[in-house]
Amino acid sequence: MRNVFGVDVGGTGIKGAPVDLERGDLAQERHKVLTPQPATPEAVADRVAEVVGHFGWSGPVGITFPGVVTANTVRTAANVAKDWVGVDAARLLGDRLGNDMPVTVLNDADAAGVAEMRFGAGKGRKGTVILLTFGTGIGSALFIDGNLVPNTELGHLELHGHDAEKHASTKAKEDEDLSWPHWARRVQKYLAHVEMLFSPELFIIGGGVSRKADKFLPLIEGIEAEIVPAQLQNNAGIVGAAMVAAGR
Ligand code: BGC
Repeated sequence: MRNVFGVDVGGTGIKGAPVDLERGDLAQERHKVLTPQPATPEAVADRVAEVVGHFGWSGPVGITFPGVVTANTVRTAANVAKDWVGVDAARLLGDRLGNDMPVTVLNDADAAGVAEMRFGAGKGRKGTVILLTFGTGIGSALFIDGNLVPNTELGHLELHGHDAEKHASTKAKEDEDLSWPHWARRVQKYLAHVEMLFSPELFIIGGGVSRKADKFLPLIEGIEAEIVPAQLQNNAGIVGAAMVAAGR
């Protein structure tokens, strides 16, 4: 199978497209809708169906979720409605989409990491690699010799007595109107903390802000690991979700 559909469910937007699994890229321009507020399971399922329906797709669908997902079931929901906790998301979304669309659900950062390791900044990299996505929250994906350790949730490490993502996410930058240097210092402290715990060879910085990597990565100092921006940028979640749904 060459194409599988990928959907990335985020705190602000839900976007999807058929993915060309050979090239690791979108096969068509993606379609995006706003995440409903509150982002309850039913409301999100409606929007996911809208995105998939936009393409008249039928076939397997991989869907990311911004929380811990084990065996397709949501375990945490930091930035979407708490009603998600305990929901078998693959069943809910699969029922909404129909029989001809088997659904796989996984954590958003894990999906982005899978795509970056195969097609992007982590391609061919061995050892410990950590992808961090900076957005509404901070997502993480940990790889050991290319193998994913799922649901690491490093965005919720404690930093100065606070949940790290409340301090160093892109949302914190916007909410507190922080300058690039100010925010970069926070990201630096966060990376130093993660480095102390895992000593990775490589950090891959993802999320929408990776497009502006030149504004903050050069300001980050004192980290041993190599730090590079993600290459698939905002499409990594879509591509990774489709790859996992295809069993790749
Ligand atoms: C969630 C993670 C998610 C990250 C990015 C965090 O608040 O706990 O599961 O990967 O946000 O969306």
